Parts: sequence; structure tokens; C-alpha cells
Amino acid sequence: MVLGVAGGIAAYKACHVVRGFTEQGHSVRVVPTESALNFVGAATFEALSGNPVSTGVFDRVEEVQHVRVGQEADLVVIAPATADLMARLVAGRADDLLTATCLVATCPVVVAPAMHTEMWNHPATRANVATLRDRGVTVLEPAHGRLTGPDTGAGRLPDPEQIVALSLLRLDGCELPQDLSGRRVLVTAGGTRENIDPVRYLGNRSSGRQGFALAEVAAQRGAEVTLIAGATDELPVPCGVELIRISSARELEGEVAARAADRDIIIMAAAVADYRPTTTAPAKLKKNSASALTGVELTENPDILAGLTASRREGRISADTVIVGFAAETGDDTGSVLDHALRKIRRKGCDLLMCNDVGSGKVFGRRRNRGWLITPDGSVTEVDDGTKFRVASAILDSAVRLIPDR
Ligand code: C5P
Repeated sequence: MVLGVAGGIAAYKACHVVRGFTEQGHSVRVVPTESALNFVGAATFEALSGNPVSTGVFDRVEEVQHVRVGQEADLVVIAPATADLMARLVAGRADDLLTATCLVATCPVVVAPAMHTEMWNHPATRANVATLRDRGVTVLEPAHGRLTGPDTGAGRLPDPEQIVALSLLRLDGCELPQDLSGRRVLVTAGGTRENIDPVRYLGNRSSGRQGFALAEVAAQRGAEVTLIAGATDELPVPCGVELIRISSARELEGEVAARAADRDIIIMAAAVADYRPTTTAPAKLKKNSASALTGVELTENPDILAGLTASRREGRISADTVIVGFAAETGDDTGSVLDHALRKIRRKGCDLLMCNDVGSGKVFGRRRNRGWLITPDGSVTEVDDGTKFRVASAILDSAVRLIPDR
């Protein structure tokens, strides 16, 4: 693949993007602009990629690089892309090796812009982004946060891990269409923690990766996304997403209830504890206070998903909201994984259920996932093994089809 690097301060993060791709076995040819080399030296990119680095169309002319680099690429990723670089792509310029490569390339192109908020919001940049998207280029939404100086806002380069995962979607044949533009999506992720005392809790192995990938892909497809997350691995905040942190199932229930109205899609990917200690001890329970720990009494938690679908039936949330649940199942002598999942979707009353087979630790904490998407009428779509971003795309494809026309 070709990694184009334009001349913005975020160019230093391109080093980690090269690493991310090479660690997954991809061969990377870095093509910086001349100004990118003001930030990171060619030697750094050459050492990290193991490939030569040139910037101009007159470097190594006998190799006809200005044509060959683009022809040989399976994927072109530009990270960071400056406002100027996008303007040159839109105009069809070919005045350096990167723009010439982009004119030649017929493979998917992913552009990760990074610039100050004012530049990102300028009508010229907005128009250039729209034109590139019309031409089939994937233009990633930038993150919000700290910019070069003390200021913050939209325009930060996404985390290298996010750029790699989102770019590889295009190699997997997934588009990131703007089909959720104007839509409001709510996603829950991670595991809940139910406190026993100030130091102990009941928790679970959820990493939050699938929920974070859903929020990220939905936002990249144009949605306004709120992500309510419990305990997760350390994951980058999805770009442009409102993140709310909770700890227990009852906190999650409260935040979901406060934000469920007027959503087009609600996805319950969180691993919610079924039970919580009936009381939380105000002081640490002593090991030798016999029954205090061995006899922790449990109370059933509310089923938030079932509560949401009941609210929809009773008109408290829009009848048009598409509600998606998750089911981590193992087969047993009362039925297969799919039998259990089908009973669950009918019991919970949701529109779509992503079912995983979690026998022998197949999902938790992994970066990949697979399973089946089930609807209440019993139709089953297999979701092939892929990254959690790939699975997120498949879930959103199905959910989008269920949104009633406006
Ligand atoms: O019943 P089970 O835990 O297998 O159901 C899983 C689905 O239900 C997930 O979508 C999960 O987020 C949701 N759930 C919930 N409230 C609970 C338990 C699970 O919303 N108390």
C-alpha cells in the first residue's frame, strides 16, 4: 500500500500508521510531500517501511515512479492530509509524486485530514471533502481535541490505530458511505461493574472493542453518535463521538433512558451484569468476617434492552427506532447457539440480534469477531470472521436497512 503524508504537524503520527500496517503484514511505500519532510525525515520513513522514499516526479525517472507507484498500490492512505493537499487532489494536480500517484491509482483511496478547526470548517475545505467523497474517496472524520497550540476543536488526526483499522475496511471491500448522515445513533459498550464494597466488584471480560468499533464506524458513516461505556480496555475515543462513562448496570440504565428518545438506531453492545450485590458495603469487608464475602446476596439487574423495547411499544420512544441487541451464547443440551439466540430476540423484542458463539473464549478481548445476525422472523445472516470494525460495518448495513423511510 501507499501511505501519503502531507505537511502538517500530525505527520509525526504517520510513523505509527506505517508500523500499524507493517505489523499486519502489509508492504508500505511512504510517499511524503516535500513539506512533510520538514516534520519527519525521509530516513525515518525508509527505516520504518523498508522501502525507498521520494517526493518528486523527477526522482529516479528511469523507474517511471510517478505512474508505477499508483499502478502497483492496492490501497492509498493519506495521513495526515492537509487542506492544501485535498485542494490539489480535487483539482487533479500532479505536481509531486503523491498527487501524481493519486491520479494514477484505481484502488481505494482513504484520506485522513488534520488541520485547524477553522480550516476544516472553511467552505472551500467542505466543498473539497464533498467532491472527494462523490468521487468514491473515503474521507475520514477528524477527531476533536487538542490541536497544535493550546486550542482544541475538530481537526485532530485520528489515532493511528483508528486510521489503520478504518483504512483496512476498504481492503476488505467495505465502503464507509455517508448513509447515516443526519441520523442519531446510541451505542453502549464494555462491561458493568457491580460494587461489593469500596475495593471489590462483580465484573466481566468485555473489552468494549466491538461497541467502540460500532460507534466509530457509525460516526464515520455520518451519524451523530453517543457512546455510553462501562469498563473497557484502553481504547481511543471514536472520532466526533460523545462519550459518557458509567460503571454499574443501573447507571447505564439511567444514561440510556435519558438519551434514547429520537434515536434512529440504538445498539446495546454492553455486557451488562445480570446481578448486583443487594447492598454495597460502605467499608471493605474483612476476609475473616465469614459470611460477609461468601454470602454476598444478589439482586437481579434491570434488563435494559427489554426495557427499551417495552418503552417503544408503549410509545415512550419513537416507534421508528431500530433496536439492536447482542447475545453471547454457548450451545448446550437444550439447544444450539442459534436456537438460544432466536428465543432471545423474541424475548427481548429487538429488531436485530448479533449472536456470537463464546464457547472456549472465542470473542472476549480479541480484535476479531464472527457470528450471525438474526431477525425476529428467524432469518439468519452469517457474519464472516473479520475485524470488529468489519463486523460493525455488517451490523450497521443491516440496521440501516431497517430504518423506516422518512
Ligand atoms: O440476556 P443477555 O445478557 O444474554 O442479553 C444480552 C443483550 O441484552 C445485550 O444486548 C445486552 O447489552 C443486553 N442486556 C441488557 N440488560 C441486562 C442484560 C443484558 O440490556 N441486564
